[in-house]
Amino acid sequence: MPLQIIVGTQWGDEGKGRIVDWFAANSDVVARYNGGDNAGHSVTVGSKLFKLHLIPSGIINPKPIAILGNGMVINPKSMLDEMEMLIAAGVEVDPKRLRISHAAHLITPAHQALDKAMEVARGKGNIGTTGRGIGPAYTDKASRRGLRVANMLEANFSEELTIRIEEANRQLKLLGAEELNAKSIVADYEKYQQWMLPYIADTSLELHLALKAGQTVLAEGAQGTLLDIDHGTYPFVTSSATIASGVFTGLGIGISGTGGMEVTGVCKSFQTRVGSGPFPTEVFDDLALQLRGSGANPWDEYGTTTGRARRVGWLDGVLLRYAVRINGLTELVITKMDILSGFETLKLCVAYKKDGKILEDLPFGPSNLDDCEPVYEELPGWSEDIGGIRKWAELPKAAEGYLEAIARLAEVPVRLASVGPEREQIVSAK
Ligand code: IMP
Repeated sequence: MPLQIIVGTQWGDEGKGRIVDWFAANSDVVARYNGGDNAGHSVTVGSKLFKLHLIPSGIINPKPIAILGNGMVINPKSMLDEMEMLIAAGVEVDPKRLRISHAAHLITPAHQALDKAMEVARGKGNIGTTGRGIGPAYTDKASRRGLRVANMLEANFSEELTIRIEEANRQLKLLGAEELNAKSIVADYEKYQQWMLPYIADTSLELHLALKAGQTVLAEGAQGTLLDIDHGTYPFVTSSATIASGVFTGLGIGISGTGGMEVTGVCKSFQTRVGSGPFPTEVFDDLALQLRGSGANPWDEYGTTTGRARRVGWLDGVLLRYAVRINGLTELVITKMDILSGFETLKLCVAYKKDGKILEDLPFGPSNLDDCEPVYEELPGWSEDIGGIRKWAELPKAAEGYLEAIARLAEVPVRLASVGPEREQIVSAK
């Protein structure tokens, strides 16, 4: 397909990074359309674990070029650190392979300081943000006072940045937080400016030309459907359009100009969430530990960006069906099937019980999950280690049955399932 969109069906951390890496081998361009360095995309290649927050994880594959789209908010320091990490690991990163939209917005230390100060001010009702300045950067964008990457091309960039830091200092003072030193921030950003200039491009035009020339574009979503600013578990969401339709505004691609698309939903075989907010199928104690892992392995359920232990639970089929609908998913990829080895019985949430009624669809969307009690279907588990399996037909019958139950519930076929963190630990249904 000319355009393939990879989107998370849950609250992020579905394993999108390694799935993007899988599809990147057959793509000409890989482009991120939302969020910033709040994301944490991991890809394991041999003994090397790549953790990317900002640069599309498709860059690890030598084939595609990588684009950071206009829907993103970019912290230049994180960007520089990530580029240095990639170059040290032997990945080719230069202005021919990496392009940053002129219309993306810049994150400054003022956004990070405001993010943290606002979380403190929210007290118990905090969102549990990553503290990366995402919300305040998108606030500035929506209030039409943000600094865009294109401002770096202007002679007055330093003055404009100084004005923004001084404005933020007034807000920080009101919040009782420490004010920032505008001079030293500007000095740092002048260095970033010099280094970023060759990478700045009209990426919307470049994507248009790529599609027109018959190239394949892989759009890499960050976070997940349930963290979408409009369609997620508001207010416990991120500040960007994480869902598939965010691709069109976040990359500047015309909806009818793609020549066809596949919308691939990446879904973990169980449910996880970082930060606050509702979670109907959440589990605790020993069961939670079994799903989360102890933290000894890099793939255990601890945040790539913040290191926080993730909340865990059984797969929520009601929320999955919602993700299928709101994204227009055409296929599913189920990750971390290996983690379910060893459970005698698996639970799959197929409906909610609320006020004595059984609900198969969400009542008023996912921000209204209070008092929704999960109704579970129980399925047999399997005990075999499935990490070495590469053929669908060799999966234990119970694992295949679990995947079939997911596909039936979602009314979308499962195309791939991952059976371990390594690049090749994937089985394909086709
Ligand atoms: P923010 O994006 O830092 O503003 O955080 C808002 C909410 O989204 C918090 O609950 C975060 O934990 C969550 N969040 C943001 N990015 C990710 C991600 O990449 N994976 C999982 N959760 C995320």
